Amino acid sequence: MQTFAEELEALRAEGLYRSMRVIRGAQGSRVELDGKQVLMLCSNNYLGLADHAALRSAAVMGVAFGVGSGASRLVSGTMELHERLETRLALFKGTEKALLFNSGYAANTGIISALMGRGDAIFSDRLNHASIVDGALLSRAGFYRYPHRDMAALERLLQQKGGAGRRLIVTDGVFSMDGDIAPLKEMAQLARSYDALLMVDDAHGTGVLGATGRGTGELLGVMDGIDIHMGTLGKGLGSFGAYAAASETICDYLVNKAHSFIFSTSLPPAVLAASIAAVDLVDSKKGEELRGRLRENVALFKERLAAAGFDTMGSETQIVPIFVGPADATMEFSRQLLEEGVFVQGIRPPTVPAGSCRLRCTIMATHTPSDLEAAAETIARVGKKLGVI
Ligand SMILES: Cc1ncc(COP(=O)(O)O)c(C=O)c1O
Repeated sequence: MQTFAEELEALRAEGLYRSMRVIRGAQGSRVELDGKQVLMLCSNNYLGLADHAALRSAAVMGVAFGVGSGASRLVSGTMELHERLETRLALFKGTEKALLFNSGYAANTGIISALMGRGDAIFSDRLNHASIVDGALLSRAGFYRYPHRDMAALERLLQQKGGAGRRLIVTDGVFSMDGDIAPLKEMAQLARSYDALLMVDDAHGTGVLGATGRGTGELLGVMDGIDIHMGTLGKGLGSFGAYAAASETICDYLVNKAHSFIFSTSLPPAVLAASIAAVDLVDSKKGEELRGRLRENVALFKERLAAAGFDTMGSETQIVPIFVGPADATMEFSRQLLEEGVFVQGIRPPTVPAGSCRLRCTIMATHTPSDLEAAAETIARVGKKLGVI
């Protein structure tokens, strides 16, 4: 049997060892890392709300309700702020109800393992987030994965798999490592035709996509075709936590069955207050402006990368991967960029399939055009030196 230390050594040898970097100060478009100012090009803080004055002051006001929430809501009670945030989220998503979870990971594992069980069937895109996969495995339902965005393959699986049990089609709205978008219109039609529920994890679309920031479903005009809208509060919304927005029955069912809801201390007041401010901001003229700026930034950055000859893997959003291939070369690319003042992570297995390692660039509304032009130039210079382009 290998020891833990030996396994870690093996990860190092394969170029798959992971470690954390310490940054100073708040999350912003520039941060201090190892004593040096660098451009942040790897945060999911797409609208720059993580350090927004409105969220900061809401969090401070939230502390008027104390610091901790005491216990699970089924034990020590729902606080006023939980209720207010859920009402706000249901209004935002246009559903009967919303239910908070402590993170996107807790939401996906909780929702999927609660709604589905032995004898049921889950149909999942091959590139769905790890928390969806873990939720499906936890549920013990049949788990059928179709090739990325392949609707013909999904339909074949729906015809062949699953018996009398429940069926769930689940997908990322925006794929977190590729930045492309699920064909939700076709998926909603398939869900109706084959009597399946459709769940969309819109961790990266919420607040960012659609005319009013309601996410991928709004962008594709299919909000009503989605049965369970899962979204996170820690990415575009700049705060922390997650939710399921759905019918009253589904939310009530989750309160009674979702282990990550039942057996975990609920979100604390400061976070709840900041999240309410975030939804209000996203759902306002200011939110529209931020989304407009983000779209312009994304277009500029992609145009510069394409001109330099990079493969951005069909990205349709603010998540812009740069294809490299091998793990070692990807990490070297990332290391050299950091030396040049650009902070962008290399993404390796198991997060992405072997041989498809990439830099995952994420664009923010608070980047300036000159930040992005300079970053694209640096990426091109280092990419050329390393033979990526
Ligand atoms: C698609 C997707 N779903 C769920 C999650 C988990 O969300 P959280 O970071 O709130 O746990 C993430 C983030 O890593 C994600 O990218």
